[in-house]
Amino acid sequence: MTPDPAPTAQQLLAFYLEAGVDCALTDEPVNRLADPDAAAPPREAAPAQRARTVPATIPTARVEAAPAPEAAITSAREAARIAPTLEALRELLEKFDGCALKHTATRLVFADGNPKARVMFVGEAPGRDEDLEGLPFVGRSGKLLDRMIAAIGLDRSKAYIANVIPWRPPGNRTPTPQETQICLPFIQRQIELVDPDILVTLGNPSTQTLLSTREGIMRTRGRWFDYDTGTRVIRAIATFHPAYLLRSPSYKRMSWQDLRAIAKALEQVSP
Ligand code: URA
Repeated sequence: MTPDPAPTAQQLLAFYLEAGVDCALTDEPVNRLADPDAAAPPREAAPAQRARTVPATIPTARVEAAPAPEAAITSAREAARIAPTLEALRELLEKFDGCALKHTATRLVFADGNPKARVMFVGEAPGRDEDLEGLPFVGRSGKLLDRMIAAIGLDRSKAYIANVIPWRPPGNRTPTPQETQICLPFIQRQIELVDPDILVTLGNPSTQTLLSTREGIMRTRGRWFDYDTGTRVIRAIATFHPAYLLRSPSYKRMSWQDLRAIAKALEQVSP
């Protein structure tokens, strides 16, 4: 039997992309298959040695010495609490080193839209397009979100949009509970500073995190919650994440009911 020809660099890259590895995070590959107990190879390995290790490696996250999660959560709380404005909060996040996601993301994805808007939408975390542009919801699901809010007469000049996590998790993996807890004080302060009349959580992770519920989105969507911004209690409603609607378009009907409820609530609290 003739052995398969070695894959070309292009085929390897296509394989990585398919597997969700869509960006190189370090200049040097890290061999995750290496025996962790084995002595570390000398920094300048001989060429033959290097050639043996390279095919078994894929670009992966740089290992940063992040502070312990508890310490990071405490420093996030203290930092977020004192940010007097949204601009100050953004600057604080730019400097904050407590969340390792910052080191693998291209840039901070803080928010988009009008900070004076009466309605604020909060998703989970940026994806690849958002990471590249530095703005939330600009990819496929963002385009759907734009169409959804347009259906009730809103656009980004009349809405404010952010995420619980402001940095893209590598390969779009689910953020860990620690990462979510570290980022939580920042989005809570962002909501307090925007002070919308209506808060809309998009999808399960954002709903469970911000509305302190363990129920799934099928039960929480379309329901009104009280959300204490820290300054006042506002109305909050959960609805499906647009990425979920792209995968399961039959739920758009229910999403439309939620959007109607949001439009009605905005009419009721209109100044
Ligand atoms: N999904 C999210 O939750 N947020 C974004 O910004 C993009 C996709």
